[in-house]
Amino acid sequence: MAKKRYTMNMKKILITRKLADNVIQKLSNDFELDIWNEESPIPRDELLKRVAGKDGILCLLTEKIDAEVLQAAGDSLKIVSTMSVGYDHVDTNELKNRGIRLGFTPDVLSDSVADLTIALMLGAGRRIKEASNAAINGEWAYWKPYWMTGYDISGSTVGIVGFGRIGKAVAKRLRGFGCKINYYDINRDEQAESELGAEYKNLEDLLITSDFVTLHVAPTKETMNMINKDTLGKMKNSAVLVNTSRGSLVNTDDLYEALNNDQLFAAGLDTINPEPLPADHPLFKLANCTIVPHIASATIKTRDKMGILAAENLIAGLNEQPMPKEVSLV
Ligand code: DGY
Repeated sequence: MAKKRYTMNMKKILITRKLADNVIQKLSNDFELDIWNEESPIPRDELLKRVAGKDGILCLLTEKIDAEVLQAAGDSLKIVSTMSVGYDHVDTNELKNRGIRLGFTPDVLSDSVADLTIALMLGAGRRIKEASNAAINGEWAYWKPYWMTGYDISGSTVGIVGFGRIGKAVAKRLRGFGCKINYYDINRDEQAESELGAEYKNLEDLLITSDFVTLHVAPTKETMNMINKDTLGKMKNSAVLVNTSRGSLVNTDDLYEALNNDQLFAAGLDTINPEPLPADHPLFKLANCTIVPHIASATIKTRDKMGILAAENLIAGLNEQPMPKEVSLV
């Protein structure tokens, strides 16, 4: 009987995907959970139906949380917690206008994303995909002095575009490769410059001088298509472009042209516009383009941490406490 009374007063949460048991356990004692318990994203009509009357949502970057969803949720909705560091899928203005708070999962994924960034730099610069395919396809006839030669990351000049948590984690790793590290950001960080041995450059100088360019800025109106025909044209023909941030930063058609015409040596992409990239897209056919399907944070440890942090943000928010990681909606 006591349990039933307690249940009636519980706050209601919509969880938009099948998540790890320990994440669900964290929430299930104190909240009433409505879980889309599938591997695939919740369909839009289901999201709109199920969100009605919820106090909180735990979502992923696959759910567009916009005015329509917030309207469908109604006045009860107080907290959106996304299991991602990026929150470009959330209309932050709408949240702010409605007094809804937003939690996200920075920091816990920076190392995994930085590791995959280095993997893509090495993979694209050293032609791993092309060489592996050549071996599989019977082209491995004998050792040849200049066959499958690429570019060293060791001792190279790397341009980091966006010097936030992940950009800095990449810089930390590059020190081990003896790289010259240049960065561009809208904010200069002199302390990080001296700690990481990085030099501030404007975007144009960074593009002109870098052997590798890696993108770590948030997707905004200003950064959309920042890598385009014009900016690609400033890069060295021998340069490698890596993107583990968001696909919208790069104009996909312009990148295809640059790679196909050997204006750019190679690209390593974890994020691309659109996602998923259709399997018959011409970029997949280019030997000098390595594409992985948005897996930069995909280690078991990191995904566990992201899920737990998303749950902790939600719990704190629903208890009207400061969230461990909250987006400041100014
Ligand atoms: C994020 O969290 O925004 C990444 O793109 C996926 O980990």
